[in-house]
Amino acid sequence: MAERVLVVGGVGREHALAWKLAQSPQVQQVLVAPGNAGTASCGKISNSEVSLSNHSILAQFCKDHHVGLVVVGPEVPLAADECIVDDLTAAGVPCFGSSAKAAQLEASKSFSKAFMERHGIPTARYASFRPAATSSTVDKALVVKASGLAAGKGVIVARDQDEACRAVMDIMKDRAFGSAGEEVVVEELLEGEEVSCLCFSDGHSVAPMPPAQDHKRLQDGDQGPNTGGMGAYCPTPQLPDQELLQQIRESVLHKTVDGMREEGTSYGGVLYAGLMLTNQGPKVLDFNCRFGDPECQPTSS
Ligand SMILES: Nc1ncnc2c1ncn2[C@@H]1O[C@H](COP(=O)(O)OP(=O)(O)OP(=O)(O)O)[C@@H](O)[C@H]1O
Ligand SMILES: [Mg+2]
Repeated sequence: MAERVLVVGGVGREHALAWKLAQSPQVQQVLVAPGNAGTASCGKISNSEVSLSNHSILAQFCKDHHVGLVVVGPEVPLAADECIVDDLTAAGVPCFGSSAKAAQLEASKSFSKAFMERHGIPTARYASFRPAATSSTVDKALVVKASGLAAGKGVIVARDQDEACRAVMDIMKDRAFGSAGEEVVVEELLEGEEVSCLCFSDGHSVAPMPPAQDHKRLQDGDQGPNTGGMGAYCPTPQLPDQELLQQIRESVLHKTVDGMREEGTSYGGVLYAGLMLTNQGPKVLDFNCRFGDPECQPTSS
């Protein structure tokens, strides 16, 4: 039966999702809330002004307008205490995205590092600190991360000890990223090529997407601060080796989905593993609980 789908979000990622969903013969219409100029009116796609903050109103809207599926793009509504997926699912509206508990894999770097340690998932060595810690805990060139959500800008790859100490003070004392910096993760600096390996999961199985690479730094030549993503391409030549790809799928994607389920937090939606291909093998830099923007754009084409 033809379905009406509601996509939540308003950047390039949601445009790509709406564009791809609209290609399905099963989909009659795609609404995007709030959407953007590109999704305002484009074939089967149009924008909707429905409230995203009041989930009872949103659930009623979906029922009244025969929305058969809600697809959530960004991390903030997934990780919020009042998680959009949890609320809509409870109201009987089918929803694609992770639960608030599962979204902790992205929303708390401290949680995700401890999770990886518990399950033997390869990642950089780390320590995490609450505000009582001071810059004296930083003893060599390191990566300093605000543990919470900071729109891709809360990670400082320090060139030396001074820069790492400054980053700790900026995040913890001057609250450069607000409450996202109440806890800080300090990691060993990994070297290598980066790849983004995304998959769909229903909490049991894993359906991988082709690997992508994005450009995180602001300036050419991988210089300047992190931005959350300046552009991406896919598939990436960094992973021509099917064996390596299979290793990543087993030792990272499957292990994560299995580990979350074993801990009582079934992982549904998109799992995004940001990886560094180091001399010692692939290591996880970061988990996200949704499609990347920009990775979603080349991956969906
Ligand atoms: N341990 C590390 N060693 C070297 N570089 C790192 C390390 N951790 C992070 N980085 C660099 O910083 C970037 C951002 O880190 P991370 O993915 O943890 O942050 P984020 O804010 O969650 O970003 P995103 O918006 O992509 O989810 C990485 O893509 C990578 O380039
Ligand atoms: Mg992230």
